[in-house]
Amino acid sequence: MKGLILAGGSGRRLRPLTYTGAKQLLPVANKPIIFYGIKALVKAGIQELGIVVGETAKEVQYIVGNGEKWNIKISYIPQKAPLGLAHAIKISKEFLGDEPFIMYLGDNILKEGIEDFVHQFENNKPNALILLTKVPNPQEFGVAVVDENGAVKQLIEKPKEPPSNLALVGVYLFDSQVFTAIEKIKPSRRNELEITDAIQWLLDNRFSVEAHMVKGWWKDTGKPDDIIEANLLVLENIEAVNKSSQKDSEISGRVRAEQGSVIEKSVVRGPVIIGKNSKIIGSYIGPFSSIGNNVIIENSEIENSVIMDGAQIKNVEKRIDRSIIGKDVVINVTTKSPRTHKFILGDQSYVQIIK
Ligand code: TTP
Repeated sequence: MKGLILAGGSGRRLRPLTYTGAKQLLPVANKPIIFYGIKALVKAGIQELGIVVGETAKEVQYIVGNGEKWNIKISYIPQKAPLGLAHAIKISKEFLGDEPFIMYLGDNILKEGIEDFVHQFENNKPNALILLTKVPNPQEFGVAVVDENGAVKQLIEKPKEPPSNLALVGVYLFDSQVFTAIEKIKPSRRNELEITDAIQWLLDNRFSVEAHMVKGWWKDTGKPDDIIEANLLVLENIEAVNKSSQKDSEISGRVRAEQGSVIEKSVVRGPVIIGKNSKIIGSYIGPFSSIGNNVIIENSEIENSVIMDGAQIKNVEKRIDRSIIGKDVVINVTTKSPRTHKFILGDQSYVQIIK
């Protein structure tokens, strides 16, 4: 079976982080989000993978490569604009051929992997298999109505008044009937070919659509808070490997600190990951923080946050909590007069200062 990962899209909800990069490459526990999806597909036995790419094609291709890292073959399929998940499948027809395939949204992370899901598809051979999970905010997702026997009855994209709390998780299995469905559907009000409409067409035309419930956690990293949450969930299972050099510091819990990192006069409480050549000096790094490579943190306190490569955070008195700091960002509190704030912030940056 071939795999298809969707890594196009516009990532509007993650601005400003997505002004300078693909959302699928944002780090969770210091690894690009898309790597979690690739790993899950490889574990489920996929050896040939297509990645749909949009405006950020070059950097996705640069970071992911040709599949050598995972011992698989990766091809790239350019999508001229983010015209919907079903559109992404439509343009991948040549790559997919007539065989069943698995589609994985490149910004999704699932704890348990997808092997059970693939087995169910191989055993029952439905035309489509969708993955569902209960969510508290179904209006933000594609939602499924399932009857008492677990059969899928209806799918609705981001309903204002959700008929159930079962959201569609971003992993789908299809056979080639999905191409017939996609030919029949029309773009939605937001001008996208919706995958929910294609699956609804299969249901309406008596093709078999099965559902599988997700066992462990699932995270769609569409918004900033989702990245912080996904980071927390992944860090809960990291292995402690401490390669840092330490001086006068207190380190407890599971801490993974990479080669060349330095921890001095600091307190680090895991689970925490610290990238290569980063320096933590006179600081506190609290649980669920991911510190990238070449970061400097001095006289500051950080918790529940994602700090990307090359960032510098110095002398910030109050604790930085549930924050995302992009690559090479500098936050520096000085005592120089006049006592003013100086900001150089890109479009849609967000700063909250509490007096
Ligand atoms: P979404 O998160 O639904 O869309 P988006 O990336 O455009 O985000 P936003 O709403 O914040 O602007 O997309 C889910 C995944 O599918 C994500 O990895 C991007 C990818 N995608 C495509 O590859 N092509 C598309 O046409 C669309 C809509 C999404």
